[in-house]
Amino acid sequence: MTDPLLQVENLTIKQGENIIVNHITFPIYKNEIFCLVGESGSGKSITSRAIMGLLNKNRFKVEGNILLNKAKPIELTKQTKREWQKIRGEEIALIYQNPTLALHPLLKIGTQMVDTLRSRRMLSKKKALEEVHKQLSLMNFSDPIKIANSFPSQLSGGMNQRVMICMSLLLQPALLIADEPTTGLDTINQKKIIKILVELKETYKMSILFITHDLRIVSQIADRVAVMKDGEFVEVEPLSVILERPHHPYTEELWKQASTFFRKEGFHVSRTP
Ligand SMILES: Nc1ncnc2c1ncn2[C@@H]1O[C@H](COP(=O)(O)OP(=O)(O)OP(=O)(O)O)[C@@H](O)[C@H]1O
Ligand SMILES: [Mg+2]
Repeated sequence: MTDPLLQVENLTIKQGENIIVNHITFPIYKNEIFCLVGESGSGKSITSRAIMGLLNKNRFKVEGNILLNKAKPIELTKQTKREWQKIRGEEIALIYQNPTLALHPLLKIGTQMVDTLRSRRMLSKKKALEEVHKQLSLMNFSDPIKIANSFPSQLSGGMNQRVMICMSLLLQPALLIADEPTTGLDTINQKKIIKILVELKETYKMSILFITHDLRIVSQIADRVAVMKDGEFVEVEPLSVILERPHHPYTEELWKQASTFFRKEGFHVSRTP
């Protein structure tokens, strides 16, 4: 792996006296998939929201540094609202855990996507719409024109989730944060979307911060894995190390549970005794 695209240093998130995330430090390298796992409430989503600059300053205190290494490095904790408008979508995009947060309920899918594209790219409406149809078909929609003509309320939760994934990839961000992106999808779409994400990562040389509970996915796509517990990173290792030699009892426990599950499902997880 080469240079870090993102360098998080001593990130601490507090709400009043309550420390939600406690001094976490990690890089995300260019063109890697960095998986973040951990039990519910351990601080995964809030970490991703801090990276995206989405935490309400009146409610949360964010300390530490988050550096995005572009031609000109950007310290994300110090960006103004206006500067964030340029960064979101283009440099970093977030696939939310909940698609309803990302889609406008009163605008057709195609309109939302065309607007997003045209706000940053010099494209005619026609060309933008063509691109939208192309991108939607990549997300395993058999009739992308119909999807583009629909309002979010006319689609199922899983369809909206695929739309949102598509929307977050439209501007080919350098870093994609995917917070449990496949939770609402059936197994077939889950597999297809994961495959597409991995392919797009290679095509566009993106980095992905992938948050999930699903250790099967982790074992298939991760380059490195961070295990979070009670707001702290208890382990950050390449996938092979996590699989073969988990250092922390919590990681050991996670893999034990996962391998029981894998065996039941007929998966094989390589692991020395
Ligand atoms: N908007 C909020 N206001 C107050 N506390 C919050 C808020 N969002 C998260 N928290 C607290 O921060 C902690 C971490 O929550 P977070 O949503 O990051 O967990 P998570 O690891 O993403 O869990 P899950 O796997 O269930 O999605 C929790 O204790 C939660 O109560
Ligand atoms: Mg979460």
